[in-house]
Amino acid sequence: MTKYVGIASGKGGVGKTTVSINLAMALNNLGHDTILLDANLATPHIAIHLGAPLVPITLHDVLNGKNKLTEATYQHPSGLKIVPASISLDELDELNPRKLSNLLFDQELGELTIVDMAAGLTSDVAPIFSMLNELLVVTNADMPSVTEALKTIKLAEKNNVEVKGVILNKSTGKDLISIENIESILGKNIISIIPEDNQVKNSLKMNHPLVYAFPDSPASIEFKKLAATLTGKRYEEKIEKGFLQNLLSRFGFF
Ligand SMILES: Nc1ncnc2c1ncn2[C@@H]1O[C@H](COP(=O)(O)OP(=O)(O)OP(=O)(O)O)[C@@H](O)[C@H]1O
Ligand SMILES: [Mg+2]
Repeated sequence: MTKYVGIASGKGGVGKTTVSINLAMALNNLGHDTILLDANLATPHIAIHLGAPLVPITLHDVLNGKNKLTEATYQHPSGLKIVPASISLDELDELNPRKLSNLLFDQELGELTIVDMAAGLTSDVAPIFSMLNELLVVTNADMPSVTEALKTIKLAEKNNVEVKGVILNKSTGKDLISIENIESILGKNIISIIPEDNQVKNSLKMNHPLVYAFPDSPASIEFKKLAATLTGKRYEEKIEKGFLQNLLSRFGFF
């Protein structure tokens, strides 16, 4: 049975798509057959982030009954499997998130499917909850995103979705609200703190997941730790080996 893990937020732009892409890639690298599905039907960004904006068959074609889900699944050069939504404005009218949850109800995707969701509490979001096994809520350390995250958590719980935890993204280490305060406002644990990382921009330019393009960057390491935590594995600090190798290479050992 595919396990569907939703990535949601109340406020837009907090990093859902970045988290979805990199968590899916990190899970894949741990050996879990993981698919990344773009459930942000009105403003899909996965294909844009990964440099595949114009694929022949999208999730919209599947929702319209024209194609099978397997025909809308693509393998990115990084190895990540994605189901992109259409970025075409023409297909906007036809979208119906309820169709998506019905469609996926009896479909097998990967062992794990990461579902990148739309921001907010619009009618686009609620129907998606019914297909999820669990939800991760992304926030930044500012009051607007934390307040909106709380509404998302409440809506998820109203729809009987287990909120597994909160991901604090773009943390500067000098955040305006403390971790303890965010946890007490939301009533949930922060299970991952992803730092603000300049390499995110560079990976976007390269159309690659950060964990693929810059596996040792600070945010990548946190994405890998998160993937390990979620699957009950121990994170292996491979960076130490890299560091040691770099050091030894300076002394001519490699
Ligand atoms: N940890 C990070 N460090 C630096 N920049 C980041 C980080 N996470 C995300 N960003 C940047 O923040 C911007 C918004 O990220 P992203 O598109 O993932 O957010 P989103 O929540 O999916 O947005 P939307 O609500 O529009 O779907 C992007 O420019 C992205 O590159
Ligand atoms: Mg997004």
